Amino acid sequence: MSTKIAVVYYSSTGFVHQIAQAIAQGAEAEGAEVRLRRAPELAPPAAIAANPAWQAHHDATSGSVPEATPDDMVWADGYALGTPTRFGNPSAQLKQFIDTLGGQWQSGALANKAATAFTSAMNLHGGNESTILAVENVFHHWGAVIVPPGYTDASIFAHGGNPYGTAVASGGLQDGKVDDGLLGVARYQGARLAKVAGLIAPMRG
Ligand SMILES: Cc1cc2nc3c(=O)[nH]c(=O)nc-3n(C[C@H](O)[C@H](O)[C@H](O)COP(=O)(O)O)c2cc1C
Repeated sequence: MSTKIAVVYYSSTGFVHQIAQAIAQGAEAEGAEVRLRRAPELAPPAAIAANPAWQAHHDATSGSVPEATPDDMVWADGYALGTPTRFGNPSAQLKQFIDTLGGQWQSGALANKAATAFTSAMNLHGGNESTILAVENVFHHWGAVIVPPGYTDASIFAHGGNPYGTAVASGGLQDGKVDDGLLGVARYQGARLAKVAGLIAPMRG
């Protein structure tokens, strides 16, 4: 039976979405079955409409990427959670999804699973690492086995050198597209997650 990976993310203008897709591709290349899911939107329609990039991404994904449910996390052997940086922290949308998981935490359904995190901030030093670490605080509570990229692959050195998780500094990108080198890091992160998730699955009996 193949390893099951849930990639759950929130993205307003599409940068985190691109990383989420690459993480999913990396896990699939490792033979995993993947659910790519987005945290439900919480912002009022007027706020979304005020930002054309937000509206465009919202329209592009609301029909094509299913919303995350707690069952996706229960189903998975490993999960990757992604969020834009909001003042150095995860977005409310991802946090709201996390906060629906009290019952699953209590039953132990999130424990002994591989977990990794990813993000995007506008600035290189605008809080990428603090955001990933804040997501990982949650992983400790769940009893997850945290799988950071570390410096376990040469691609990480070549594309930003972030050992905590893939992070896109979106402010420097003119065309809204994450460069393929960093997408390669994300694919590597997804493959590594799937590998470890498969190895530790027997822990759950
Ligand atoms: C309310 C708010 C807070 C933000 N806080 C930060 C921040 O602390 N540091 C930073 O560099 N960028 C910050 N940003 C910018 C986003 O993190 C950045 O645009 C990110 O690439 C968006 O990812 P997305 O396209 O997946 O939504 C903030 C944006 C908003 C709307």
